[in-house]
Amino acid sequence: MDGDTRSQLDSYITDLYAREDDTLRWIQQEASRHELPQISLKPFEGRLMQFLVSLAGAKKVVEIGTLAGYSGVWIARALPPDGRLYTLERSSKHAQVARASFRQAGLADKVEVIEGDARESLRQLSTNGPFDLVFIDADKASYPDYLAWAIDNLRPGGVVAAHNAFRGGRILMPESDEDRAMLAFNRAIAEHPQLDSMILAIGDGMAVGIRKG
Ligand SMILES: C[S@@+](CC[C@H](N)C(=O)[O-])C[C@H]1O[C@@H](n2cnc3c(N)ncnc32)[C@H](O)[C@@H]1O
Repeated sequence: MDGDTRSQLDSYITDLYAREDDTLRWIQQEASRHELPQISLKPFEGRLMQFLVSLAGAKKVVEIGTLAGYSGVWIARALPPDGRLYTLERSSKHAQVARASFRQAGLADKVEVIEGDARESLRQLSTNGPFDLVFIDADKASYPDYLAWAIDNLRPGGVVAAHNAFRGGRILMPESDEDRAMLAFNRAIAEHPQLDSMILAIGDGMAVGIRKG
């Protein structure tokens, strides 16, 4: 499939399933006004995360990599009334923008933005587990550590999802340490004996694993 067809199909899925409302558009405008990097999920990837939340019957979710809270709003909207999203961000500027996003979306009481390096935050968050879903979307070099934490802290049947499994196609011909880290991560999640896993070829690729019982 050529790039044009792929992008037309992405638009087709977006029209069917992932139209942004005013709040989601506002978040992206705020992210741009604050000069945050434009590396959030695409709308149809946000919708995919909602689908995984529903599929897992998730109530307690951890997101690693908040940015402006765009994906967090997609996820939190799919949670039941007593659901909770813990989202981890090391940049205080990003965390501040994200808190405003969750307030704007009316989700502030459902979402906790935890500021600091994710590895340290995860250590402390373990006491709140087990969790139903862990979404990894941060520094690629730490993906193996995040995966290990997820396996230790997910309930059986819980789901771990990791964004950028394809690295824009560079997974086939890695150019950077981050590409090589993703290659190693994809192999680790594919071969992990405690996971039933797959890469969903949607957007930039979502590696997904279900924690075995
Ligand atoms: C790709 S962006 C997240 C995008 C977000 N999930 C979305 O779709 O809206 C990655 C974020 O992870 C944060 N980050 C990177 N390394 C981190 C770490 N070690 N601990 C916590 N946050 C980290 C970055 O500051 C950045 O905001």
